[in-house]
Amino acid sequence: MIKLIGISGSLRAGSFNSALLRAAAAMMPHDAELRIESIAAIPLYDGDVENQGIPVAVARLKDEVAAADGLVLATPEYNNSVPGVAKNAIDWMSRPPSDSRRVFGGRPVAILGASPGSFGTALSQAAWLPVFRILGADIWTGPRFALARANNAIGANGDLTDPATRELLQKFVDGFVGYVKQRK
Ligand code: FNR
Repeated sequence: MIKLIGISGSLRAGSFNSALLRAAAAMMPHDAELRIESIAAIPLYDGDVENQGIPVAVARLKDEVAAADGLVLATPEYNNSVPGVAKNAIDWMSRPPSDSRRVFGGRPVAILGASPGSFGTALSQAAWLPVFRILGADIWTGPRFALARANNAIGANGDLTDPATRELLQKFVDGFVGYVKQRK
């Protein structure tokens, strides 16, 4: 069984990116699962807090990712870059440096995203690349999934309803799962 962890880089209940992750989780092949984890309990990074110990929510998420075969990050785009809350979570998870490779080293990572704008998080996805590179993750370079005008493809109830988008997402899911399988 292939086990993937999915993280949405948005905290809001109606998040398009969380909706993408839920749709992806429902599309997983029979021999794979995508478990969605939240970053909502991750505090703001503070070196003084770190000196007292890694917060429980951070340690838990690190262990989840370390035990998984891969990570799927659904990222919003803020001001043409990554959202602070998501970067904060990944930064915390990279601490302490001596434990970073256990979590990210060689870990397959797939990045996708959705935005109501015209470019569908393309710049945010690109901005994540140096982050995962320095962490030594294995960034999957399969077909890009950047959903523009997400409000047209995702209904008010948070379901991914557009058939063409569902097809693209299915290809993305199958591609990443196939990649993770052949690496295992
Ligand atoms: C945005 N948004 C946005 N969208 C985009 O395509 N490019 C961008 O550069 C930005 N910049 C930006 C900055 C800030 C501070 C906010 C709050 C928003 C809009 C963004 O894509 C939209 O709010 C999405 O709905 C966020 O993703 P979730 O929460 O739906 O997953």
